[in-house]
Amino acid sequence: MSLSDASKAELRLCSRLQLSDEHAACLISAMRAGVSARSAVVLSPLAAADYKPPFACVDTSEWSWLPPRVFVPVEGERPTVHADYAAGLYYSLDLSSCWESAPLSVVPPPGSSLDLCAAPGGKSMLMAARYLPRQHVANEVNAQRRGILRKNIQQCGVPNVEVTGLRPDQWATDGRLFDLLLADAPCSGQSLLCKGIRNPGCLGQQMVNGNAKRQKGILLAAVQCVAPGGHILYSTCTYDPDENEKVMAYILKRMPEWQAVEVPVLADFRSALVDFPCYRMLPHHGCGAGGFCCLLRRATEK
Ligand SMILES: C[S@@+](CC[C@H](N)C(=O)[O-])C[C@H]1O[C@@H](n2cnc3c(N)ncnc32)[C@H](O)[C@@H]1O
Repeated sequence: MSLSDASKAELRLCSRLQLSDEHAACLISAMRAGVSARSAVVLSPLAAADYKPPFACVDTSEWSWLPPRVFVPVEGERPTVHADYAAGLYYSLDLSSCWESAPLSVVPPPGSSLDLCAAPGGKSMLMAARYLPRQHVANEVNAQRRGILRKNIQQCGVPNVEVTGLRPDQWATDGRLFDLLLADAPCSGQSLLCKGIRNPGCLGQQMVNGNAKRQKGILLAAVQCVAPGGHILYSTCTYDPDENEKVMAYILKRMPEWQAVEVPVLADFRSALVDFPCYRMLPHHGCGAGGFCCLLRRATEK
């Protein structure tokens, strides 16, 4: 497409992302075409180590970031129509979600973990594919979504999970400390456009500002729930730097005991917008509609 056809909001996003004209055209085309979704499945704890899904999968050997026990169906396959899906042997999700969990590759197995924004359960499943903490809390503030979360966790047989519905500020005063906290934050969801899902206003500054404010609040509460030496994995499915790099910069500036952690398998995706390690994936990478992730580590006590 030609950039002269782009809207002001599309061009503003690309300019904030400092994209070249070529990459800006790719992103705007992807947001308009809405065909960048890419499905993936993650095996549940119920599936044996040598289990193979009952559908054809693509060769993913070149994606070093791909989490363990994740398969990518070839185009046209529908993983959710098989009996193994109903039996909870695997969970179906977007490939971008899998990419967002890649920083867990550098997190040692946690004793305890909290998925603060957990429904419908994708990130908890991805974590359970790597390690099963002695205690995992899957938390969701929205009651209806919490019901879906509970059903998914049960169906996939994830052990040692407590499903809760506290707000982040309630967790902050709860006193429990976790080794790992997942903050897959609510966001403006700009990547939904690339999946063909309508999302009016998602490129507008008002929607972005509102989400950035909420994300900062969630993280200011989250840092109070993590033990010394523990980690927070922050992720979103939106592109705007105000909800991503700038949220991270805000936390790092205010919380000197926290540092952003380098993730070697994501080196090709490192954001050039800031000087600390954080990662963004755009639709033209060919791995789904895109997302952002950043791993934070709390210093150990002296
Ligand atoms: C991106 S979704 C989480 C997706 C989930 N982690 C997964 O992988 O399946 C964000 C979730 O945050 C919840 N949420 C909305 N506002 C919130 C808030 N103020 N604090 C915490 N969670 C919130 C939403 O209900 C939604 O379920």
